Amino acid sequence: MTGRTRHKEIRLNAFHMNAPGHSWAGLWTHPKDRCADYTDLDFWIELARIAERGKLDGIFLADVSGVYDVYAGTPDAALAAGAQIPSNDPSVLISAMAAATRDLGFGVTASVGYEQPYYLARRFSTLDHLTKGRVGWNIVTGYLESAARAIGDGGVREHDQRYDRADEFLELAYRLWEGSWEDDAAVRDKAGRVFVRPEKVHRITHRGTFFDLDAIHLSEPSPQRTPLLYQAGTSGRGREFAARHAECVFMNQGRAAVAEAAADIRRRAATYGRHPEDLLVFVGATVSVAPTEAEARDKYEEYRSHIDTRGALALLSGWTGIDFSQYGPDDPVRYVKSNGMQSKIEAMTLRSPDRVWRVRDLADFGEVGGRGPFVVGTPSQVADELLTWVEAGADGFNLTRVVEPANLTDIVDLLVPELQDRGVYKTDYSPGTLREKLFGPGRARLSPRHPAHAFRHPGPAA
Ligand SMILES: Cc1cc2nc3c(=O)[nH]c(=O)nc-3n(C[C@H](O)[C@H](O)[C@H](O)COP(=O)(O)O)c2cc1C
Repeated sequence: MTGRTRHKEIRLNAFHMNAPGHSWAGLWTHPKDRCADYTDLDFWIELARIAERGKLDGIFLADVSGVYDVYAGTPDAALAAGAQIPSNDPSVLISAMAAATRDLGFGVTASVGYEQPYYLARRFSTLDHLTKGRVGWNIVTGYLESAARAIGDGGVREHDQRYDRADEFLELAYRLWEGSWEDDAAVRDKAGRVFVRPEKVHRITHRGTFFDLDAIHLSEPSPQRTPLLYQAGTSGRGREFAARHAECVFMNQGRAAVAEAAADIRRRAATYGRHPEDLLVFVGATVSVAPTEAEARDKYEEYRSHIDTRGALALLSGWTGIDFSQYGPDDPVRYVKSNGMQSKIEAMTLRSPDRVWRVRDLADFGEVGGRGPFVVGTPSQVADELLTWVEAGADGFNLTRVVEPANLTDIVDLLVPELQDRGVYKTDYSPGTLREKLFGPGRARLSPRHPAHAFRHPGPAA
């Protein structure tokens, strides 16, 4: 089947970070790139307006709580390249971007490894209020030793235990968002001089393996209560976590691996009583589009010449936990069971049986096993390629930051109309919260099939 006969709607997010460099190290040195202005709100407001002009579903902000110091055992390569350092708090950007837009959604990454459920729940409730229900949380577990050391944790917890802690964290967040306040608790009754009816606010108590909590939620119910839940991480344990919690799963994998992981997560989700359509799969994609193929190729070569090789390897080393400074450019990348992102190293090795990736590939701007589609071409060529990933099980794409906002502008002006012409992309936003825009009317809040629904307070009638 080709894209011309298929009518599944493709979802697009712009994938960014509150830092000068994100997934591709060094591109901030390109004369057209404005990401070095990441400390200036005008940069973010303009980006949000471009994204909304292109009817993108959201801006999705990555975040890490530490520095990439696995490469040669120091942060120097990452610092020199501006590779995810310096890095500012992503959540603080959202209010300004929300004020400049009406429908655009926002995905905010926050790690359950370094936070307390009590505070995180309030932060997301606040964002959900201020955006009128347009916020999502990208739940990550953390993988950098530097982040664990920074908060005095000694070291990163063992891989699977990070997910055990995440499960307990999520249960507490759900109980605060869904169970602490009844819908009609904050009555704002001026005549009766009652803001909140105390009998409608419920204390959450918990003594667990990783957390103790005894509190009422600080925020009153927001439009979505629980923010839209994104998750990234497709190791075996990561998939189980996704199947239970995620509404949107973010993957960086090869096409066959996406197909396998998407089907597996949907199968596992059924064991929690969820339906396949309760989960959307977003694939990380690098897209560079131009009116002609020659222009697209020229642009790609020009971008490529600004890549910082050591910065790129510093990122890869941090992601995988493998120090790539120890290898030569022609050395093959081999599978090592590390305590880092298992899905990343698995994607480049075990799940990439047809090709041996070499260290020089990791340092380049181009297709790398485990990074999803890398597409350079005309609008029609890019659309054709993306649709093959949709055939494989993707519902949408997180469009990786390249040279910005120039690259996103090209996507909005060239690719979006092509997708609209093919009938696979919206021509306007649907009303409602971010969850309703993605899952349909009446879905402002979590599906009754989601495990968190069990934590909703039944109210006085029950
Ligand atoms: C596509 C993708 C994006 C991710 N983004 C972030 C991020 O922004 N911040 C972060 O701390 N971790 C991020 N992670 C890491 C995951 O949360 C998780 O800690 C890691 O992948 C290890 O789990 P896994 O072995 O199941 O992949 C990301 C992972 C993937 C696969």
